[in-house]
Amino acid sequence: MNSKTVQVNLPNSRYDIVINDSRFDFESIKELLINRKITIVSNTTVAPLYEEEVRNQLFNYTNCIYTIALPDGEEYKTQKSWSQIVDFLADKNFNRSDLLISLGGGVICDMTGFAAATWMRGINFIQIPTSLLAQVDASVGGKTAINHVNGKNLIGAFHQPQAVIINTSTLSTLPKREFRSGLGETLKYGLINQPKFSQWLKKHSSNINAQDLPTLTKLIAKCCQYKAQIVQLDEKESGIRAILNLGHTFAHAIETYTHYKTFSHGEAVAIGMVMAAELSYLLKSSTHNLRKELIKHLQDFNLLTMLSKDINAKKLVELMRLDKKVINNKHRLILLKSLGDAYIQANVCEEDILQAIKNCQY
Ligand code: NAD
Ligand code: GLY
Repeated sequence: MNSKTVQVNLPNSRYDIVINDSRFDFESIKELLINRKITIVSNTTVAPLYEEEVRNQLFNYTNCIYTIALPDGEEYKTQKSWSQIVDFLADKNFNRSDLLISLGGGVICDMTGFAAATWMRGINFIQIPTSLLAQVDASVGGKTAINHVNGKNLIGAFHQPQAVIINTSTLSTLPKREFRSGLGETLKYGLINQPKFSQWLKKHSSNINAQDLPTLTKLIAKCCQYKAQIVQLDEKESGIRAILNLGHTFAHAIETYTHYKTFSHGEAVAIGMVMAAELSYLLKSSTHNLRKELIKHLQDFNLLTMLSKDINAKKLVELMRLDKKVINNKHRLILLKSLGDAYIQANVCEEDILQAIKNCQY
C-alpha cells in the first residue's frame, strides 16, 4: 500500500490531501467526521461503484449519512442540480456544523463545493475525487462553480475544502477516454512551470498509458504538490494562479460552443494549449514555434491536438469574451515563452486570437 499526504497551507485555512492507492483513508481526518451529519453528493455512475465502500468507512465515525445521486454529465452542472442539492440539505435540516462530501469527477467536486459555499453562507466539505482530472486538479484549491447557459463556470465561489481524500484505485473503473482527458490537465503542470515534470512524464509514458497504479499515484501526488504551491501563492487568482488556466479560455469556448457534447474538459484543454502555443508564436512571445513540439508531447499521451474546421472560429472568439480573465473588454490570456514557462499576457487583440485558432484547425 502506498500513501502520501500533501498539505495546503493558506492564510485562513489548512488542509490535507490524503492520497492512498487502495482505500479511502479517513483515519487522519477523523476529527472532521466524528458524530457529524453528512451528505454524500455523487452521481448515478459513481455512486453505485463507490458509495457503499465510502459509507462503510464513514460508519466508523458517524451514523448519520445521506446520499444524493445527481444525473451524470457536464450538461448537468447547472443551477437545477445546485437547487436539488440545497433543497436536499433544507429537507434534512443541514446547518453549519454539518458536512458535505463529494464523490465523483470534477463536475461533482465543483457542484458540491458550490453548494457548500452557498448553503448558510458556507459549510464544511470534503472532496473525494474519483476521476484522474479531479484527482490532479479539480478537487484541490477551492474553486467551486456551476455553469450558466452563457458559459462555463460563470457562477461560483472560492471555498476551500476541509480535506481531499484520494483513493487512486478508483481509476481502475474510469473509462479510457476520461483517463486521457485527465492527462490533459496533468500535462499542463509541466508546461506552465515544471519542465522537469514534463521530462518525468515522457520517461514514464508507457507506464502512465498502461495505467500502472504506483506510477499514477506518484503522478497524482506530484500534481497536487504543484497545484498547492501555486494556490498558496495566490488563493483567489489575483495574479499568478491564472497560469493554471493555460489553454482554458480556448477550451471553455470550445466546450460551450459544442454544448459539452463533443469534447470532454481535458480534451478541450489539450487543444486549447496548442492554440495558446500558436498564439505565443504569433505574438513573438516564444522565439520558435512551440506548437509542433507540444503536439508531439500531447500525442505521446493520445490527446487531441487540433480542432475541426466545422467549428466557427469567429464564434469561439466571441464566446471567449465571457472569460473571467477579461478586464475592461480586453482579453488576458496565458501564453508560453517556452514549454515550461507560462506567463499572463494582457491586451491580446481578437484578430490574433482568431488567427491562432484558425492555424490549429484541420
Ligand atoms: P466528470 O466529472 O464529468 O467525470 C468524467 C466521467 O467519468 C463522468 O461520467 C463521471 O461520472 C465518470 N467517473 C468519474 N470517476 C469515475 C470512476 N472512478 N469510475 C467510473 N466513472 C467515473 O469530468 P472530469 O473530467 O472529472 O471533470 C471535469 C470538470 O472539472 C469540469 O466541469 C471542469 O470545469 C472542472 N474542473 C474544475 C477545476 C477546479 O479547480 N475547480 C479544475 C479543473 C476542472
Ligand atoms: N484549475 C484552475 C485553478 O484551479 O485555478
